[in-house]
Amino acid sequence: MIQKILLQRPALRGAAVILATAIQAAEAPAGWQSPNSVVASPDRTRAFLGAATANAVLVVDVAARNVDRKLPLPASPQALCLSPDGSRLLVAAGGSNGMVCVLDTDSGELLQHFHTGHTPTDLVCFDDGVRVAVPNRFDANVAVWDLATGRELLRVPVPREPISIALAPDQKTLFVAHHLPEGKASANRVAANVTIVDLEAGRIAGTLLLPNGSTTLRQIRLSPDGKLAAVVHTLARYQLPTTQLERGWMNTSAVTLIDVAARQIINSVLLDEVDYGAANPWGIAWTADSRRLLITHAGTHELSVIEVPDLLDRLAKLPATRPEGVTPQYISASATQADVPNDLAFLVGYRERIRLSGNGPRAVAMFGETAVVADYFSDTLELVDLTRSPRRPESFLLGPIPVRTPERWGEQLFNDATICFQQWQSCASCHSEDARIDGLNWDLMNDGLGNPKNSKSLVLSHQTPPAMSLGVRDDARAAVRAGIRHILFAVRPAEEAEALDVWLAGLRPIPSPHLIDGDPSPSATRGREIFQDELVGCAGCHPGPRFTDGLAYDVGTAGEFDREVKEFDTPTLVEIWRTAPYLHDGSAATLREVLVDRNLTDAHGRVSDLAPTELADLIEYLNSL
Ligand code: HEC
Ligand code: HEC
Repeated sequence: MIQKILLQRPALRGAAVILATAIQAAEAPAGWQSPNSVVASPDRTRAFLGAATANAVLVVDVAARNVDRKLPLPASPQALCLSPDGSRLLVAAGGSNGMVCVLDTDSGELLQHFHTGHTPTDLVCFDDGVRVAVPNRFDANVAVWDLATGRELLRVPVPREPISIALAPDQKTLFVAHHLPEGKASANRVAANVTIVDLEAGRIAGTLLLPNGSTTLRQIRLSPDGKLAAVVHTLARYQLPTTQLERGWMNTSAVTLIDVAARQIINSVLLDEVDYGAANPWGIAWTADSRRLLITHAGTHELSVIEVPDLLDRLAKLPATRPEGVTPQYISASATQADVPNDLAFLVGYRERIRLSGNGPRAVAMFGETAVVADYFSDTLELVDLTRSPRRPESFLLGPIPVRTPERWGEQLFNDATICFQQWQSCASCHSEDARIDGLNWDLMNDGLGNPKNSKSLVLSHQTPPAMSLGVRDDARAAVRAGIRHILFAVRPAEEAEALDVWLAGLRPIPSPHLIDGDPSPSATRGREIFQDELVGCAGCHPGPRFTDGLAYDVGTAGEFDREVKEFDTPTLVEIWRTAPYLHDGSAATLREVLVDRNLTDAHGRVSDLAPTELADLIEYLNSL
């Protein structure tokens, strides 16, 4: 039996695979669980797992390696947390119908659930379990709720895509990690940040600027002693032409450490090694003594264990700036604090890198001295005993293994950096895990050197040939194969590209946060008329339902880096509400900039005649697609 599973699942490389017994026998046909979150029960005997594609919480007896119970949820879980007294399990769940679910940890009963916003991605329970804070990713706000009454206490607008939060010991300073950068991709600095929200004042109290190129932030977590926050992210070298991958030339992976009391970034440390990337860092846990920081690498199927006091010591010893008269030596170790985010050897001696046997580790929690890691794609849980050396992660399956469909495999490959030369990146490094964007410009080699292009969402890409802004690939199938070869620098079996095609071709847009109960607002409805007005001309080039005619035009958007060709492929406008910045070179931060600032001669739709309210309606319509 074990052998059969190993054959079916190449991801389970040689690990001791122990089959979890009887997970709900009636479950037929078996579906994937896709664990994306994990917390320990108060007595640390059980793990609660959020099973993203099963709309459930799994209760796992850790010692017995057994799934005890499966608690159904009204929507797909995104994150879990326990109330301070351990009596309640809180779940952030759902997409446009996003909610907080409250379960009784003993009985598993769903006590209540209330709607909080579009795609709640994390949650923190505080004030002795009275309040819960939730980032609503696509509403771009953080909401605070009274748990007993389900009443909203506070809603603070924050920059785009708040994805993870951590609360300081003062119970009022909230650190919010944003998934993507804001503003033009052609600006000098392009990076997603961490905002600090003052929950007492109900407003943003500051912004921590991450290094240039920081994007795709994932978890942010506080050390148990409350002194440090750690946030993991990709650190892209997007300004370099994409000619190679060696030494982190394109994408690197980093953890940024924050001094909580001082509200300052200590530094950003690379998680890769000189010739071996550690792509797509995702989940974070701390040991109870705050001395070790654990990070999962969802792209390389690894766990990093970092010795924090030693690392802090070394960081503290570095001068902020180079002493006068000392010439920089680029090949030697970091000489100043500013060198650290570029130093692929800085963690040597402070970090242990543990290869896991599952695929797609996205969550980790500490059970005493044992790290419990949840693998999204292989439906496995792995236990890593930190007191034992050498480390031997022990992995077990969360249920009977479903048939691996091409869709599922394609999604897994898209997120897998082990198919990339030296593991530096996965497709998800630039397109995020759901095949959208990173907000950056990249100078890909397919259309010549020196003309960077903004990364594109792949929703409808397979249905709207040609591909790439200059149409240099006939279709998305060709772009997929070119991506494997020229971006991942890999030669892979043809079936992998096929599987990627199947998954990508099946991507569906998610409902816009601008819709009201699923319908366009009155303003968007008026804007639709304007969009379709022949005099304005939008629908001529952007006809529904895909909002592109598949042709290239010069709409006056060529910039300083574009050469002879000034005609760009007409992009789809579906999900345009979430794919800023806009235009082939990311030179427009907002839709207003596309239509007004970058359209002074009306070459891109005749909008100069529109009244301000009409323009607002048109933009509202675009935002509803
Ligand atoms: C280094 C960042 C990066 C990585 C990694 C990356 N892409 Fe892209 N991708 C881009 C950029 C930038 C564009 C837009 C280029 C343009 O418009 O000319 C793009 C465009 C595409 C398109 C065409 C979209 C359209 O409709 O025109 C497809 C398909 C695609 N990528 C698939 C993939 C796949 C599959 C992988 C992994 C094998 C991958 N990409 C990895 C940056 C990246
Ligand atoms: C003549 C054809 C044409 C017309 C008319 C036209 N568009 Fe476009 N649209 C394009 C092309 C081509 C691009 C890509 C330009 C670029 O990448 O620099 C584009 C890009 C866009 C974008 C940015 C999309 C992205 O993902 O970056 C938006 C938004 C948009 N158009 C909306 C409109 C609206 C609204 C109108 C009517 C006012 C309109 N367009 C009229 C061809 C057209």
